[in-house]
Amino acid sequence: MNWDNYKSIIQEVDLPILKQKNIKLSVLREDLIHPKISGNKFRKLKYNFAEAERLGYKKVITFGGAFSNHIAATAAAAKLNNFEAIGFIRGEEIEALIEQNPTLKFAQEEGMKFNFISREDYRLKDSEKFLNQLKIEFPDHYIIPEGGTNDLAIKGCEEILNDSCFEYDFITTAIGTAGTITGIINSTSKNQHVLGFPALKSKHFDEEIRKLAKKINYTIIDNYHFGGYAKVSEELINFINSFKETTSIPLDPIYTAKMMFGILDLIQKDYFKPNISILAVHTGGLQGIDGMNKLLNKKNKTLIQ
Ligand SMILES: Cc1ncc(COP(=O)(O)O)c(C=O)c1O
Repeated sequence: MNWDNYKSIIQEVDLPILKQKNIKLSVLREDLIHPKISGNKFRKLKYNFAEAERLGYKKVITFGGAFSNHIAATAAAAKLNNFEAIGFIRGEEIEALIEQNPTLKFAQEEGMKFNFISREDYRLKDSEKFLNQLKIEFPDHYIIPEGGTNDLAIKGCEEILNDSCFEYDFITTAIGTAGTITGIINSTSKNQHVLGFPALKSKHFDEEIRKLAKKINYTIIDNYHFGGYAKVSEELINFINSFKETTSIPLDPIYTAKMMFGILDLIQKDYFKPNISILAVHTGGLQGIDGMNKLLNKKNKTLIQ
């Protein structure tokens, strides 16, 4: 697979509020960059697979939860690059639920094998002891961390912004581990400012970003996480559905919807001066909609269309 053959496009958003406030809002459709390796996962995996190849590996191991975008993308990338893949999945009870879980079913169809581990063991997965043991048990596997974030992932995320992105005043992205925003910050031009919208509650984003960011032209907007990771409200689901209806752009409930909700709320509250332009990076995650709909359906809630 030649990763350099794939490029993403910019789509301008047309909403009455944007005309009213005189603001240009566009979306960098990284979600469309590849049919199976979507959004920031494409960027994070590119140099990790290149490094694995360079070191002579043909097998990868990675980690994730039952609905992980990273697990789905790694499974697809492994298949396309002729690698075998093992996913260490959080929660032993999940093993019985593969058939009902769209993410794991997809990963399995792409050839990924699973190793279900207890939540206690999963918490230790980044410890030296756990990793050393893993290297002894699986010496021929290249290890990619949870969420795919490492130095090589950040190098890949530095390629998210293309030449057409530098005319925008603000670049925005969702934050999980903060790898994506770090890559984006590193590639911005002098006058650009980056806004990061965390999808979960944490106080450590600044610390994470400063480890590898070359600039400090960013602000973390941390009041649009909707109660925490993977938490959604009726208001958010209705927002996803109406945004798709009016713009034709689908958003995922875990990351990109929270960011877009935040952007439009900030516009409404005059956070931005008139005449500025915003480029929102769509980091993908749409594979997670089916899984979220299953949960919403069980609770008799409105579904994502
Ligand atoms: C769709 C999507 N958007 C954004 C993010 C956040 O990226 P990061 O973990 O690099 O902050 C993730 C998680 O990795 C994701 O899956």
